[in-house]
Amino acid sequence: MTPESAAAARSPLAGRLILLAVTGSIAAYKAAELARLLVAAGAEVQPLMTASATHFLGPLTLEALTRRRVLLDPLELLPDRRIAHIVAADTADAILVAPATARWMGAMANGLADDVVTATCLASAAPVVVAPAMDGEMWSHPATQGNAIKLRDFGYRVVEPESGPLASGAVGQGRLADAVRLLSALEEVLAGRPIREPDPARRPPLDPTPRSQDLEGRRIIVTAGGTSEPIDPVRSITNRSSGKMGIAIAEAALGRGARVTLIHGVVSVPLPAGAEAIAAETAERLRVALRKALPGADALLMAAAVADFRVKQPAERKLPREGELILELEPTPDILREAVERGAGMPGRRPVFVGFAAETGSLLRARAKAARKGVDLLVANDVSEAGSGFGSDTNRVTLFAPGMPAVALPRLPKREVAERLLDRVVELLEERDARPLSAEAVS
Ligand code: CTP
Repeated sequence: MTPESAAAARSPLAGRLILLAVTGSIAAYKAAELARLLVAAGAEVQPLMTASATHFLGPLTLEALTRRRVLLDPLELLPDRRIAHIVAADTADAILVAPATARWMGAMANGLADDVVTATCLASAAPVVVAPAMDGEMWSHPATQGNAIKLRDFGYRVVEPESGPLASGAVGQGRLADAVRLLSALEEVLAGRPIREPDPARRPPLDPTPRSQDLEGRRIIVTAGGTSEPIDPVRSITNRSSGKMGIAIAEAALGRGARVTLIHGVVSVPLPAGAEAIAAETAERLRVALRKALPGADALLMAAAVADFRVKQPAERKLPREGELILELEPTPDILREAVERGAGMPGRRPVFVGFAAETGSLLRARAKAARKGVDLLVANDVSEAGSGFGSDTNRVTLFAPGMPAVALPRLPKREVAERLLDRVVELLEERDARPLSAEAVS
């Protein structure tokens, strides 16, 4: 036994299942350190995050530290179809809500279970420690103070925020309590209680082992990021895509043994090492790069946000700011549809085609879009929804495949969405390869 594991074994947190619930305050970044300390104390940690928390801290960080998938959505099911947050609620030794925002305290005080943290606390008999973090005025507001009283009446331990400099630049009482105070509050609420559910099979499972090398020998093309169509040498028409979804797919495919060609427009995250990266800023460059890459590919996942319109004649010199500017736009070619048509005419096996549709407000148009593009799978999301839009680390998508009912996935980290899409791509490739080549040619 190392000195560290000996110390962990002696800790009152050893062997406990602690739910670390993070809500959307700037102090969310401190939850990573809390996760690390809890794990070091020998606890098993199941992270939960509200949608707004994911803007401040990437779920991947908590997943890597705890080896458990972050629960983000009350609708999420475990691989064995149990309801994830109920399993967590029923087996937790304690719940630590850190940081707790004023909004979350209000929701919890009133039992409004519309986020996974409130839903889990409502469903659990475990002791709850609440660590508020917010602006000083928010904390002292009678509404927040009233909510803190209500939470205490539930038996929750509210660890008051500390005074000091706040994110706003002001000084006040609102800083998340120090980690040592939070851990000792947990130890106090656990004192004298036996471990609630020692059977690991009844607890939320550790992250399943990484997917097998089921894409070994496959060549996968992924497009990612937004295109940028020039107006003049310094200005362009672009969109808010970060490229995160496409890059998560490329990373997941590499992890599963595929050879990956990543054709990317403007992206705001690093490209994965190991992929053949081709920069293609405009729709036309992307189209040319894809034409070149497509022969022999097994699948195309077209996650790029391609501009639908471009300037008919970009100016060669910077346009001066004189009076009105009227731009004449023309539609860009539908690159995905073109690729599907070319794929059908190519010798050998037709690649599997996956399209994406960023919709706002409703996914009603998605099925028709899938048919229009001729894809095997269309991944639709509502980008106006919190935790599902451009730049977010999570996504809630619905999958449309011809002749199949739509499959709505819960909100998940983009990497997990990528894995689930690739699960489907693997199945589609297996179905494709099981068909005789002659059937391929006519289908
Ligand atoms: N796409 C493409 N070429 C374009 C526009 C989009 O290949 N010129 C691809 C996208 O990469 C995505 C899919 O088509 O995989 C759907 O994109 P979307 O913009 O939702 O569809 P549109 O055909 O542009 O339809 P609409 O603008 O009417 O929603």
